[in-house]
Amino acid sequence: MSSAHNFHTEDDNIQSSDGGIGPALGRVFRLLARDELKRQRPLMALAVFITLVAKVFSVASPVFFGEAVNVVASGAGAGIAGTLIGLLALWALTRFLASALPQVRTMFFAPVSQEAQRIAAVEAFEHASNLSMQFHLTRRAGALNRVIERGSAAIDFLLRFLVFNIVPTLIELVLAAVLLAVRYGINFAVIAVATVIAYTAFTLWITEWRVMQRREMNEVDSNLRASIVDSLTNFETVKAFAAEARETNKFSQHLGRFNRKYIAVVRSLSLLNGGQELVMSAGVFAAALVAGLGAINGNLSIGDMTAVVLILMNIFRPLGILGFAWREIKQGAVDLEKLDGLLAMNPDVADAPDAPDLVLKGGAVRFEHVAFTHEGRTDGLNDVSFKVKPGSRIGIVGSSGAGKSTILRLLFRFYDPQSGRILVDGQDVRDITQQSLRDALALVPQDVALFNESLRANIAYAKPDTSDVKIMAVAERAHLGAFIRALPLGLDTRVGERGLKLSGGEKQRVGIARAIMKDPAILVLDEATSSLDSETESEVQAALNEAAQGRTTITIAHRLSTIADADQIIVVDQGRIVQSGTHEQLLQLCGLYARLWQRQIESGEGATE
Ligand SMILES: Nc1ncnc2c1ncn2[C@@H]1O[C@H](COP(=O)(O)OP(=O)(O)OP(=O)(O)O)[C@@H](O)[C@H]1O
Ligand SMILES: [Mg+2]
Repeated sequence: MSSAHNFHTEDDNIQSSDGGIGPALGRVFRLLARDELKRQRPLMALAVFITLVAKVFSVASPVFFGEAVNVVASGAGAGIAGTLIGLLALWALTRFLASALPQVRTMFFAPVSQEAQRIAAVEAFEHASNLSMQFHLTRRAGALNRVIERGSAAIDFLLRFLVFNIVPTLIELVLAAVLLAVRYGINFAVIAVATVIAYTAFTLWITEWRVMQRREMNEVDSNLRASIVDSLTNFETVKAFAAEARETNKFSQHLGRFNRKYIAVVRSLSLLNGGQELVMSAGVFAAALVAGLGAINGNLSIGDMTAVVLILMNIFRPLGILGFAWREIKQGAVDLEKLDGLLAMNPDVADAPDAPDLVLKGGAVRFEHVAFTHEGRTDGLNDVSFKVKPGSRIGIVGSSGAGKSTILRLLFRFYDPQSGRILVDGQDVRDITQQSLRDALALVPQDVALFNESLRANIAYAKPDTSDVKIMAVAERAHLGAFIRALPLGLDTRVGERGLKLSGGEKQRVGIARAIMKDPAILVLDEATSSLDSETESEVQAALNEAAQGRTTITIAHRLSTIADADQIIVVDQGRIVQSGTHEQLLQLCGLYARLWQRQIESGEGATE
């Protein structure tokens, strides 16, 4: 067993080791045993049965041909043509059934496999969605998607190759060996089994080595793709730095590295296939020779010799994909283990068992001695305490990196504080369901990210069934009305990846519309108007003030004028609340706030009308 780090190249933060095949099969069978798949169970049984029947036909078929050869060799006689036709027909029929039945099996099994994959993927998706912010912040985009995709596909691989390929092949080998021993002599059984063992040993030996090669190739491939995606998504930076040639060169180098790995993989495959052919040919040669000598001695007929060779070639045929199947099974085991690793991850933030829903009583917010430090940091929030009365407006100001956005994330319970507590209407956010907590809150984040869908879908994200009239009314309040009406596609306009087809200000206004649409008890604005020019800002600010009526509002602002009329302002510096009070009180204190205000007045930024 190799160490776990080999499988950790994807930055998906999911532990897995060199997946054992036993545990992987256990996982698959546990999945198949689930109640959701109860209706599919007869189909499963039918699929296994059909596979076994096909193998019996496959083994028996050469016997009929051998008998036909014997009939021909025995020369003339009455009714010989009829016997020949009968034997050849049986041979053709069994041959046909041996290859056609597995197709029938696939027809029966496909729905079972698809349903099992769907169940596994949906479960993993649901689980991953519920994992905490910390998990989602640390994983690499796309890696998670691949874990789910590959993990569920592995279920199909494992079943197809193991249950319908390797195990039936083993059964076929046993049946054939028994038939050979009983009908033609023990020698042939020994040759068949010895050849298969040699073949298998050689294949597994080379395949283990090739697994390493492939893993290296996949690693290079992942890097190659990550590099392309990174370069293409950052096209604006690349262009602005005129770095196209450098990026192309990097791409070319990655491709060169990939090609070298790929060539090694292809070469070892040729070696594998060549070696397999050698072993098989040696086995068939040995069997044919022994049978031929037997025929000369009169112990066997010509038909027997033919049948022996055909039986051997029959068992060797499915072995051709053994190397591939083995590799896929091992990969499938790893993929499944990853999927399991994902399912085993516990969200850092989870609902308490039997947590009740939040009971809203106006939207009071209270932080009590809250301390929180991000993973991998030494400094964080320290002893943060403040109170927001229901329906009032609080402003949070402070320098960049002071911890303002972190305070909001704690309120949303994206993280739990290391000490202290956060109360909404007197209820600790850790004691109530996350769903009910977040239903009561709406956030306009500092960096609004939109779904790559229509404006309609983005604005109505909280309430997808809203009518266009209502959506436009909300858009109007966020000063988006004129913009949307001027678009040829109106609300159907798609906004691009993360909303990149909109200007910074437009994106922010969509974020505001989305929050207003939610109609929350507590409205949380993190620099919600920072990208707007001062005229638009004061208009949107007016709309926000209007939206703030009757609900608690928490506003982070750099431009102090936007929160000057708040009921209370808290000043955060290096993770601590250093001042709090109304605008006038804070100016009189002549502290940090007064200095910030003075600076903004001087630069003209803070000037209000
Ligand atoms: N997920 C994270 N992991 C580690 N550190 C983080 C994480 N998020 C934020 N931080 C750090 O926590 C500190 C506070 O960040 P926060 O976003 O709360 O600042 P802020 O006051 O909102 O600043 P700004 O005004 O620039 O938005 C910063 O030093 C930041 O680097
Ligand atoms: Mg911030």
